[in-house]
Amino acid sequence: MVKICCIGAGYVGGPTMAVIALKCPSIEVAVVDISVSRITAWNSDQLPIYEPGLDDVVKQCRGKNLFFSTDVEKHVFEADIVFVSVNTPTKTQGLGAGKAADLTYWESAARMIADVSKSDKIVVEKSTVPVKTAEAIEKILTHNSKGIKFQILSNPEFLAEGTAIKDLFNPDRVLIGGRETPEGFTAVQTLKSVYAHWVPEERILTTNLWSAELSKLAANAFLAQRISSVNAMSALCEATGANIQQVAYSVGTDSRIGPKFLNASVGFGGSCFQKDILNLVYICECNGLPEVAEYWKQVIKINDYQKSRFVNRVVASMFNTVSNKKIAILGFAFKKDTGDTRETPAIDVCQGLLGDKANLSIFDPQVTEDQIQRDLSMNKFDWDHPIHLQPTSPTTVKKVSVVWDAYEATKDAHGICILTEWDEFKTLDYQKIYDNMQKPAFVFDGRNIVDADKLREIGFIVYSIGKQLDAWLKDMPAVA
Ligand code: UDX
Ligand code: UDX
Ligand code: ADP
Repeated sequence: MVKICCIGAGYVGGPTMAVIALKCPSIEVAVVDISVSRITAWNSDQLPIYEPGLDDVVKQCRGKNLFFSTDVEKHVFEADIVFVSVNTPTKTQGLGAGKAADLTYWESAARMIADVSKSDKIVVEKSTVPVKTAEAIEKILTHNSKGIKFQILSNPEFLAEGTAIKDLFNPDRVLIGGRETPEGFTAVQTLKSVYAHWVPEERILTTNLWSAELSKLAANAFLAQRISSVNAMSALCEATGANIQQVAYSVGTDSRIGPKFLNASVGFGGSCFQKDILNLVYICECNGLPEVAEYWKQVIKINDYQKSRFVNRVVASMFNTVSNKKIAILGFAFKKDTGDTRETPAIDVCQGLLGDKANLSIFDPQVTEDQIQRDLSMNKFDWDHPIHLQPTSPTTVKKVSVVWDAYEATKDAHGICILTEWDEFKTLDYQKIYDNMQKPAFVFDGRNIVDADKLREIGFIVYSIGKQLDAWLKDMPAVA
């Protein structure tokens, strides 16, 4: 029986290994983590991450060929294939601070693998890392190997949160990069045979190590760039009276461009896009390519601009001050169908409004109060450290209350900001909400999910990203 061990039981490691276990009954899969609370949760009925379909998959295999454990060393020792899916935060200090990836967790995992191994192993890079990380890891492993042979592969994960199980069951492609040597080819084939249990062969792409590593950074950069492009257009639409949804539809029907991933929003979030682009920028700078670095930096600048543009719009519309006004925040997760808040645009929007002394009442169907308070008081980039290793213990933000119901959040509020596109926000009783709010009552729709005309009939003043402005909003221009 082939044995797989995955170091890191997070958003990537957990779901990916659960699907491998489900699709490959002949393989024993152990997912290990240094976080006792995370592993306890994986072994309970309350999994540590919310992901549609995940419970079902875990229930089918856990205890049969899928195990969650904190005994990292034992499972690495026993494994034939070791996936590494640990955190790769952005450095906050020293060389490359604010851009480069901090490979502390990766390096410590690699040293541990070298330490405990007594048999040859394939080590698979699963977390997104800078190009040429595999080379560094290879050096650590071979310099500490005591004669054991390691083959390093890069097998980046392309799943998106909220659709992780669907993406894993039916991936557009699986990418495996390895050394172009006979041993490297054999290792690639071994990993390929795992995925071949359920992924059609033509969708399993094999490349050299660097191409695989760079493809992941490039794919995320291209996706983020599409959103910054459509968000940049949304600002122009508001200024000219065009409608971003009509423009995006017209652009997307060109088969060379395609219709997906063209929704204007309050900004992209998530653990990957910004981090991977910052990484790309740093790599370009290190390779003497400042023009290329500048090009990609602009994707992040537009994303930051979109978030502050939204805050400015809210404040400007409400007579240039939200001081001591209650603002309801509907949605805090970085997208719907996940409880994940890493780099969510809601953090920047809330901090912007708090900067203007607003009182916030926040509701998200999947995010806990504890998480929201932690996010709003944490330093930039600190989120990407395992909870028990996070540098500061955050304090509660007093002007923030977190509630468990949209009607409670909006009661007596002056304005509503919709920051996550949860389906349930589309079907709220907006008449009831309006009746219980201060007047004039505002809705700022950062995801274009409500029917603005219907809300205007009720009496709301409505702002929708990239759409024609109400007379009210035109009279109160947001100054950048
Ligand atoms: C992304 C990539 O899609 C995935 O392939 C990679 O493995 C990890 O990073 P994820 O961050 O989970 O996945 O979600 P994604 O669906 O890509 O959304 C990222 C952000 O972009 C979200 O904040 C989302 O709301 C925003 N977005 C997405 C838009 O604003 N408009 C869109 O049209 C699409
Ligand atoms: C373009 C648009 O495609 C068309 O829809 C519009 O009506 C007019 O402008 P055109 O300029 O005729 O059409 O040719 P196109 O095929 O788009 O190529 C434009 C340039 O981009 C060419 O120099 C082409 O060589 C270059 N190109 C195109 C690339 O360098 N790489 C590519 O992948 C595609
Ligand atoms: P991702 O979204 O890439 O899956 P997460 O932050 O959700 O990232 O998961 C990474 C996991 O890796 C965390 O649960 C963390 O505790 C774990 N981890 C980090 N370093 C180590 C290590 N040296 N050994 C075992 N687990 C680790």
